[in-house]
Amino acid sequence: MLNTVRAATRMDGVQAPIIPVVGDIIRQVPGTISLGQGIVHYGPPPEAVEAVRNALSDPAAHEYASGTGHPELVNRISRKLADENSIDVARGSAIMVTAGANMAFMHAVLAISEPGDEIILTVPFYFNHEMAIQMAGCRAVTVPTDARYHPDLDALARAVTSRTRAIVTISPNNPSGAVFPESTLRAVNTLCRDRGLYHISDETYEYFTYESARHTSPGSLPDAGAHTMSIFSLSKAYGMAGWRIGYLVYPDDLTAAMLKIQDTILICPTVVAERAALAALEVGRPYCDRYVRELGTIRQIVLDALDTLGPLCDVPPAEGAMYCFPKIATTLDPMTLAERLIREHKVAMTPGSAFGMTDGCYFRVAFGALQRETVAEGIGRLVAGLRAICG
Ligand SMILES: Cc1ncc(COP(=O)(O)O)c(C=O)c1O
Repeated sequence: MLNTVRAATRMDGVQAPIIPVVGDIIRQVPGTISLGQGIVHYGPPPEAVEAVRNALSDPAAHEYASGTGHPELVNRISRKLADENSIDVARGSAIMVTAGANMAFMHAVLAISEPGDEIILTVPFYFNHEMAIQMAGCRAVTVPTDARYHPDLDALARAVTSRTRAIVTISPNNPSGAVFPESTLRAVNTLCRDRGLYHISDETYEYFTYESARHTSPGSLPDAGAHTMSIFSLSKAYGMAGWRIGYLVYPDDLTAAMLKIQDTILICPTVVAERAALAALEVGRPYCDRYVRELGTIRQIVLDALDTLGPLCDVPPAEGAMYCFPKIATTLDPMTLAERLIREHKVAMTPGSAFGMTDGCYFRVAFGALQRETVAEGIGRLVAGLRAICG
């Protein structure tokens, strides 16, 4: 008998990424409308594409470059952080450009932890955060949220142990669409400061707020610099998910650790992607705002349609990102429901179990990829499917 090289590894306990799992079922049912993946329907500003074109003939674009990010881009990010987020990097923080916000999170976890440490996530969590924590050999400690999916501050405080290294918040939130009030983010940030923890604030959806909701950056608080790690991304705002550019603002006493991590995992961000990012940031937020306004209309259509399901479907307020996270009154498990919706009604969503919600049938509806022409059809199928399967 042949010996197998394959042994147990740290990856065995890590959940499989849900998007490809659902994607496999979608591919078996042609014509399925996906409310599954968190992507936007628009691409980058033309200026970003032009910058890439120009970069291709520049020999420097094909070489290794600065590990922390191209100085011009880092400078532009620093101005953006000051103007839009009230984060003053000069007060003890540093910036690192990464291949997206997911990498920024992985870097942050590696920089602040040792194996066996604990990192607190609010539930529902973003699945890649849980996966990153496990891959780093740490434990994701999950803390329930309240009925609006906002952090429960007392529960967070109770979850802190001597092994806790950080509390993670995502606002606007994936998967719930909740936007946490400034007072809540302040309280989490203060809790972290007082207990000697990092506050990892994922602000990937900073521009995506609707109605009266406003985004707050905890890194703007007067004494936040020493313990706050703020994560941003160009993937959603600028329709640049494939270019893989995000950035991390971190306390500058972590610089030595961050440089080791970056040098080993990425060496330097992709230079042409950095040129695209710089051009996109020069165009700036108004480019994104136009699409976010359109998404606001689509969001309303989605919420109104789900509302017609009455008590079958409970949708807590979703004033941000591009998601809502309803609870369905059914005993079906969410993966079974997801599969039946695809096979019987040609519409896909993401089961809530992937986000740590195992106590009931929750699912995430992602509406960022919908346009007005497809939204009525997609949400119509979802509502009809839920009525038929669970009604
Ligand atoms: C909360 C959150 N963080 C990070 C990411 C990943 O972003 P990026 O493409 O910049 O890696 C996503 C993508 O869905 C997200 O929802």
